[in-house]
Amino acid sequence: MAIEKTFIMVKPDGVKRQVVGDIIDRFERRGFELKGAKLINVPRELAEEHYAEHKERPFFGELVEFITSGPVFAMVWEGENVIKLARIMMGATKPEESQPGTIRGDYAVTISENVIHGSDSPASAEREISLWFGEGLA
Ligand code: PPS
Repeated sequence: MAIEKTFIMVKPDGVKRQVVGDIIDRFERRGFELKGAKLINVPRELAEEHYAEHKERPFFGELVEFITSGPVFAMVWEGENVIKLARIMMGATKPEESQPGTIRGDYAVTISENVIHGSDSPASAEREISLWFGEGLA
């Protein structure tokens, strides 16, 4: 298994609830390495571009409103199989399916305010890292 990088974002609800430290701690304890991080107020164009694949879905407007409603904490994590393992650590998108012990299973009760985003494939990870961080990661 090759070393990969993935894009992880603590959404505005997670920043407000001050769970950024816990989320970083979980990734560090698992053995992943932080390669980039920033607290950012997301411009609308960046939010729309990030979620472009969902633009025809009925919740797109609500999703963009939410992501631009307060600062997010954007990160790049590196490690073996990190794209898939991060998704498992995050837990399922739907709150009724996210298991206790996962990030969403411990913190989220709605599908719209679900604390964290993580890239779902190598192609998404590459696209999202470049969109949010460009060049120049550690
Ligand atoms: S997944 O994991 O990509 O298959 O999930 P999906 O159901 O396709 O959802 C994609 C993102 O949209 C968010 N979402 C919603 N936001 C607001 N309202 C509703 N109803 C809703 N349904 C889904 C969901 O949290 C996913 O966000 P990210 O940041 O990609 O996890």
